[in-house]
Amino acid sequence: MRASIAIVLALAAFVATNAAQYNVTWADDGNPLDLSVNCSDVVQFSWGPRHELEQSRGYGCGRPTIRNFGEGVGIVAPLVFANPGTYTFACNINDHCTSGKQLAKVHVGACATPKNTITWGYRRDNASYAAIELTCGETLTFTWASGRHDVAEVEKADCVSPTIAYFGNGTRFENGTYMPPAATGSVSITYNKAGKHHYKCDVPNHCSVGRMLLTVDVTCPHTASPPRRRSPPPRKWVQWP
Ligand SMILES: *[C@@H]1O[C@H](CO)[C@@H](O)[C@H](O)[C@H]1NC(C)=O
Ligand SMILES: *[C@@H]1O[C@H](CO)[C@@H](O)[C@H](O)[C@H]1NC(C)=O
Ligand SMILES: *[C@@H]1O[C@H](CO)[C@@H](O)[C@H](O)[C@H]1NC(C)=O
Ligand SMILES: *[C@@H]1O[C@H](CO)[C@@H](O)[C@H](O)[C@H]1NC(C)=O
Ligand SMILES: *[C@@H]1O[C@H](CO)[C@@H](O)[C@H](O)[C@H]1NC(C)=O
Repeated sequence: MRASIAIVLALAAFVATNAAQYNVTWADDGNPLDLSVNCSDVVQFSWGPRHELEQSRGYGCGRPTIRNFGEGVGIVAPLVFANPGTYTFACNINDHCTSGKQLAKVHVGACATPKNTITWGYRRDNASYAAIELTCGETLTFTWASGRHDVAEVEKADCVSPTIAYFGNGTRFENGTYMPPAATGSVSITYNKAGKHHYKCDVPNHCSVGRMLLTVDVTCPHTASPPRRRSPPPRKWVQWP
């Protein structure tokens, strides 16, 4: 862990009480970040000079991008880690990753909820959900015990792109049928095909202000991986333990 990481207990976290916050200076300073956190903790990446925060499939430079959480100068990007596993990040601007070792691994321990169950809620702390990596055959469940939410699959990882499908309480609503927001809900989606899926809560402001936007990256054995962004040497994707 690099010296510039600070940790606080967030006393007023809305979704997860007792969640810790780690403040990380994201820099090409030759020190890759290797951080272990508890489920639902927030890691706040921030930087001054121009960088990008790409969540990548696998650890290394030029790996396939799952989601870009910010590119530019003077950015504060808090991420919440809502599922166990290892999450990997890089800045692939110029030689920031290759020479500057601007890489991160965040290891997330067990959650209070079962594996692959996301507590879906409005984030008063501005934290974006780190993308979740799944393999074919796995099921992801969104649950909420209070608040008025739904789950809408959208074309891109933003709050304005067109909706592909709505999901409500276990039922898939086709053709843009609106699922009225409910006070409690549970939506389960099982993946059989490789690719990225993006979900938001369709209730006004819940995506844009409440950061209810989640990318799910599904990989399947024996299928071709999507084209790589910066032609790295061929490497086999390894699932982190
Ligand atoms: C982390 O950053 C937040 C907001 O940017 C700040 O309020 C908090 O005091 C910082 N924590 C530490 C330990 O520096
Ligand atoms: C996880 O939470 C437990 C209990 O609150 C705490 O003792 C432990 O230090 C935490 N671990 C990390 C990596 O934050
Ligand atoms: C969330 O972002 C808004 C707009 O940038 C800012 O005004 C607010 O202080 C942020 N809240 C927290 C808890 O960081
Ligand atoms: C969605 O549209 C397709 C094609 O028009 C139709 O066959 C299907 O029944 C529709 N589904 C619902 C739930 O309305
Ligand atoms: C969702 O489904 C559960 C289990 O079937 C049910 O108890 C609950 O009332 C449903 N919620 C809504 C808003 O329909």
